[in-house]
Amino acid sequence: MTETEHLTVVSHPLVQHKLTIMRDKETSTASFRRLLREISQLLAYEVTRGLPMTTRRIETPLCEMDAPALEGKKLVLVSILRAGNGLLDGILELVPAARVGFVGLYRDPETLQPVQYYYKVPAELDDRMVIVVDPMLATGNSSAAAVDLLKQSGAKNIRFLCLLAAPEGIERMRQAHPDVPIVTAAVDDHLNDHGYIVPGLGDAGDRMFGTK
Ligand code: URA
Repeated sequence: MTETEHLTVVSHPLVQHKLTIMRDKETSTASFRRLLREISQLLAYEVTRGLPMTTRRIETPLCEMDAPALEGKKLVLVSILRAGNGLLDGILELVPAARVGFVGLYRDPETLQPVQYYYKVPAELDDRMVIVVDPMLATGNSSAAAVDLLKQSGAKNIRFLCLLAAPEGIERMRQAHPDVPIVTAAVDDHLNDHGYIVPGLGDAGDRMFGTK
């Protein structure tokens, strides 16, 4: 794992191996979806590392003990539609009681700027850890806009989880939201003129839903 205060790259061999298969253009939609679900759980392990803990008095078959347990309000997962849903399902298997929000933003193909079409998030965001999920941190415009909206709704403790990040997107997020740590499986080389991450894996939504 490579880590700065703002960025964690999860270099675990299983994550890197699965990511390589996902990048391969010959990988099928079914395999891509399954791998994204698997990686999401490995990345979730990292992004939830700082969850607050308490102890709970329980009785094992042998004796009583103060056993560690999660503390505080249920965490919130916020999926940036539509590709974020590919990370969401796997994480929900690990944290089944999490609350879930959705932010609908599409990129205007000309300006690459985000346009909002849907926003629905749980109440009491200010008391909860909020994890925003989107497989691709490209320009960072959508991610920064989603975090803006969540902060307007009261969120204070926000993390951003993605599969691949471009240096441009990381920088955009660092400028706009230095308080939001990013967890990713890899930082790629650059963005091309269409805003795609290179070498990347193509359009994550199309690859997971088979729309192209
Ligand atoms: N969104 C994608 O799905 N892929 C990219 O490379 C960039 C943004």
